[in-house]
Amino acid sequence: MARTVCLIPGDGIGPEVTRATRQVVDAAGAELDWLELPAGAGAAEEHGDVLPQQTLEAIEEHRLALKGPLTTPIGKGFTSLNVRLRKHFNLYAAIRPVRSIPGLKTRFDDVEIIVIRENTEGLYSGLEHEVIPDVVESMKVTTRTGCERIARFAFQYARERQRKSVTVFHKANIMKLSDGLFLDCARKMHREFGSSIEYNEMIIDAGCMEIVKDPSRFDMLLLENYNGDVVSDLCAGLVGGLGVTPGANIGDDCAIFEAVHGSAPDIAGQNKANPMALLMSAVMMLNHIDQRPVADRIKKAYNAVFSSGDLDALTPDVGGRGGTREFADAICRAI
Ligand code: NAI
Repeated sequence: MARTVCLIPGDGIGPEVTRATRQVVDAAGAELDWLELPAGAGAAEEHGDVLPQQTLEAIEEHRLALKGPLTTPIGKGFTSLNVRLRKHFNLYAAIRPVRSIPGLKTRFDDVEIIVIRENTEGLYSGLEHEVIPDVVESMKVTTRTGCERIARFAFQYARERQRKSVTVFHKANIMKLSDGLFLDCARKMHREFGSSIEYNEMIIDAGCMEIVKDPSRFDMLLLENYNGDVVSDLCAGLVGGLGVTPGANIGDDCAIFEAVHGSAPDIAGQNKANPMALLMSAVMMLNHIDQRPVADRIKKAYNAVFSSGDLDALTPDVGGRGGTREFADAICRAI
């Protein structure tokens, strides 16, 4: 039976990359009913709300969404819609796989890191206030419940997929209580899940230096929210950038899949955006809903397009001369 997916095109390059992704997913024969929904700056103009009620209700009902990027104003304006969605649907685990793509030349060719990021707490609680003029406080909220459930998620994921190791990047030398609690929960889960999965801890600044020196040392990373956000983009840079890094936001009974990148206003509407990251997110979604043969078909096709070395089929961010539409068409031909 076809599964309904809430599709949010979003802002900036969002409509272009969602259109390309949908074209490929349909060509691969996925059994999906797309339900297109508004959110973001465009939705405010048309529906009077950046996150209209109809969008929330549809995700509430179908528990599955594929989302384009949403613009968040810097330093003023409304709260990040991404943060709101993750909190509203309790999508506490962000999975961001970072893998070298065959045929895409980067500094390293053997990267295979799964970044697991806590998605609902930490500094992204959005609790900020001006104590007195020119003095601002931001609250970092860390709970045992939140830390334990993300650590359990990470070790469960590692066990199910026979991963080798989980490394926690932290700053518990400075944030002794909050990152200390995060570490405490990670150690507890490691004890619960047994010693078949290697467990390591690194102070985040040293960890970042090690990861850019030799990413092959790392298998899975477990991080709290802010650290995870920053390190995911750092890892994306190891394999070709934001255009090729997918993501999933998972809760106990709802999942929203999205690329790691933002709305890229600098290239919006120019047929320059790489839809690969959202397409890879759609592949994660198809695996999540057990449409594995379709997911495999798409993976094989995009690997073939990258390996072919046809620069007219690739977008400029990965050295190509083509654009969003040419890339999607090439993958459809490969399928
Ligand atoms: P960004 O990810 O939009 O862009 C950073 C750089 O990467 C830009 O040079 C852009 O052209 C390039 N880039 C990003 N995605 C690309 C793609 N698919 N193909 C080719 N090049 C790509 O980050 P930025 O500029 O910091 O944020 C822009 C807006 O996006 C902000 O409002 C931010 O809040 C929002 N944002 C939304 C996210 C989401 O919806 N999940 C995630 C990150 C940022």
